[in-house]
Amino acid sequence: MRKVKKAIIPAAGLGTRFLPVTKAMPKEMLPIVDKPTIQYIVEEAIASGIEDIIIVTGKGKRAIEDHFDHNFELEDNLVKKGKFDLLEKVKDSSNVDIHYIRQKDPKGLGHAVWCARKFIGNEPFAVLLGDDIVQAETPGLKQLINQYKETQCSVVGVQQVEENETDRYGIVDPIEKKGRRYQVKQFVEKPKLGTAPSNLAIMGRYVLTPEIFTFLDKHEIGAGGEIQLTDAIQQLNEIQNVFAYDFEGTRYDVGEKLGFITTTIEMALQHDDLRGELLAYLENVVVREKIVK
Ligand code: G1P
Repeated sequence: MRKVKKAIIPAAGLGTRFLPVTKAMPKEMLPIVDKPTIQYIVEEAIASGIEDIIIVTGKGKRAIEDHFDHNFELEDNLVKKGKFDLLEKVKDSSNVDIHYIRQKDPKGLGHAVWCARKFIGNEPFAVLLGDDIVQAETPGLKQLINQYKETQCSVVGVQQVEENETDRYGIVDPIEKKGRRYQVKQFVEKPKLGTAPSNLAIMGRYVLTPEIFTFLDKHEIGAGGEIQLTDAIQQLNEIQNVFAYDFEGTRYDVGEKLGFITTTIEMALQHDDLRGELLAYLENVVVREKIVK
């Protein structure tokens, strides 16, 4: 049985939704409390048993490489000051290897994944998108890998969204449900409002068989004038099953401003040293805003 050992994290997007902060800083480095968003994604991959990660980067993304590298000066400084708790936080304690490749033109998600094809070779692999942070008892990706183990087929993570949000996602047209797993008739990228076949949306977690590259090789242009991963998945589904799995857990959308802010608050509330004061602050804000109204 082929094991899922490699993961691709596409991180070449321009981050236009967060301009101007993303002019000189990659959006993947925006912090949620004290960690950049991409670190949550890398940690999920590691907790799911991934051994090698390839991050697809682009122009202006060097800070990502520096973040996952050793910082000798900083580590030395913390040792000298006896700040061993902080040292633990900056040191990479995992055995995972992180590799990098550049996407030279921003031609879309399908193209970003295609850029990593030589690294993947002929193995099943995972894709994790940085706009979605998943918190779950069993890591989101691990749930999909478990499904892959059972079926030996590609699996895409989905969750339900509001009807008026279906045009922001890849949407699946489900046929049959077994537990939380769906057989899928069709995958559609960002259907126009009112035309979506369901409200089951692809949530940035995938396990794919290498046959996907047969379709990504074609460089077909899809929704928004970009090479879409969803289109290649739809074509793969015509030659071998691609399942959709309604994974358990909370998914946070950090790809847009409001989601980013609410995620920051939710995560901060999970820090014991911040929770009490933050709650008191939020209560004050609510009282103040009501009085102002
Ligand atoms: C991408 C995928 C889409 C998926 C979404 C999840 O879209 O193309 O199918 O539903 O991520 O976040 P993007 O948000 O990059 O436009």
